[in-house]
Amino acid sequence: MDCQRHLFDIPVDIAYLDCAYMGPLMGQVLAAGRGGLSRKARPWELTTDDFFGDANRLRALMAQLMNGRAQDFALIPSVSYGMAVAAKNLDVAAGSEVLVLDRQFPSNVYAWREKARANNAALNTVSRDEGQSWTEVVLDAIGPQTSVVALSHVHWIDGGVIDLVAVGQKARTHGAALVLDLTQSLGALPFDAAAVDADFTIVANYKWLLGPYSTGFLHVAERHHHGLPLEQCWQSRDRAENFAGLTDYHDDMSAGATRYDMGERCNFALLPAAEAALTQILSWGVENISKTAGRHTAHLADIAKDYGLHGDDEPLRAPHYLSLRLPDDAPDDLQQLLRAQNVFVSRRGDRLRITPHVWVNEADIERFGAALKSAL
Ligand SMILES: Cc1ncc(COP(=O)(O)O)c(C=O)c1O
Repeated sequence: MDCQRHLFDIPVDIAYLDCAYMGPLMGQVLAAGRGGLSRKARPWELTTDDFFGDANRLRALMAQLMNGRAQDFALIPSVSYGMAVAAKNLDVAAGSEVLVLDRQFPSNVYAWREKARANNAALNTVSRDEGQSWTEVVLDAIGPQTSVVALSHVHWIDGGVIDLVAVGQKARTHGAALVLDLTQSLGALPFDAAAVDADFTIVANYKWLLGPYSTGFLHVAERHHHGLPLEQCWQSRDRAENFAGLTDYHDDMSAGATRYDMGERCNFALLPAAEAALTQILSWGVENISKTAGRHTAHLADIAKDYGLHGDDEPLRAPHYLSLRLPDDAPDDLQQLLRAQNVFVSRRGDRLRITPHVWVNEADIERFGAALKSAL
């Protein structure tokens, strides 16, 4: 792919290598958001479709992005919300284990700590040794005692990638549920919902999906389409389009995963922005994004080696994710030192996390090398 910087508002002297922290909004996404927000300035122009159309178009785009079906998606505000839905709808038997990764993102840990505690079950936190893959340790840890496997596709700190098809197969063999947080991968790493067959798959929109904050998606396997939502959202009820008849209360929920939608899901400003971003990602193609980001991380890794910083090579790490181990003598304020040179990356624990996307150019990569040289 050619560099797509012209679509973003990133000044020439900024090397933004931190998509895992926050994906920037493209010009067309911002315009769609502004257009959406302005609908609320003229409420007399709103139609019933404004409450349903945006959400349904988004479900259809998500279905394309991850080989799912539109009816399997619910609109949610955050990963923590999606995890709460999953925890509410899965059985964790006394004495069983919920499996999570060492240093997993907290939204995919707290819900399971609580669920395990409430059911006299245990949390099994698996770690890996250097050179070992997450896939290997997860497959080893799944057994008859496992009730839930709660993972990501890519570890948010070390960038380690997991073979979710293999994990899904093993989990099913033991009757364990699979719950996924794709926030650090979807949009930059191909994912096939049909092949993985997870129970609940959750993604926040504001990183690799390049969408607005406070929006996300929950993909729900058909076997859970009759479960319990967190909220009693009136828009998720059958016949909700008939505003005049809303007080003819009834118990019928809309078909599919819509029952899990958050309240006020039809956010006029945010949903058009999310739609514009997803449309662009689909038009680039996730394979192409992955290859482009992979080319950048390979180049950045080469430069970092000269300064004693090493990360895992593919296939242990995902192409879009470079996580460098810092030497013991690295300055504590390395992130700030780089920032002072207009190089934006994240420090997470003992790692420097560098996550480029399609806006990155050669000048950014050179700036990274020069900043590293002066900081170390
Ligand atoms: C892997 C992962 N999951 C989820 C989130 C965000 O979670 P939430 O939407 O609950 O704030 C982040 C943010 O850094 C993340 O890295």
